[in-house]
Amino acid sequence: MKLMKVLIVLMLVIFASTAVLASEGGNSRKGKYLYKKNCKTCHVEGAEGGELTPLSKTQKQWDRFFEKNKHKKAPDAFQRFSEKDLKDVQQFLFDHAVDSDQPETCG
Ligand code: HEC
Repeated sequence: MKLMKVLIVLMLVIFASTAVLASEGGNSRKGKYLYKKNCKTCHVEGAEGGELTPLSKTQKQWDRFFEKNKHKKAPDAFQRFSEKDLKDVQQFLFDHAVDSDQPETCG
């Protein structure tokens, strides 16, 4: 009986930790794909949004942009995304921000 209890507790812990992960971290790899496909159309040199790469901002600035600004200048560019997709894009930009461990432009 004691073993059963231990097992149940263990399962609860595993379940709880995966739930937290899913709600906190976006999927950076998917975010990169989404960014290239949906953001770069307006965000290359000479296009209406101007050039923009992960390096354009610091991690803090990216978080602020996604939490506060939400693409104020052209809101519909964000509105067509699901919350989850935006989280993925945010994660990609954050992970490769200018002050991140792996700064990266988006080739
Ligand atoms: C329909 C065109 C369009 C799309 C699609 C678009 N943007 Fe923009 N974006 C703009 C325009 C226009 C501005 C304002 C540029 C300015 O102020 O000169 C802007 C501004 C921004 C800024 C602010 C730049 C700064 O200097 O602070 C960020 C960040 C940004 N966009 C990110 C994104 C991301 C991320 C996506 C994809 C989820 C995206 N944009 C998709 C048109 C677009």
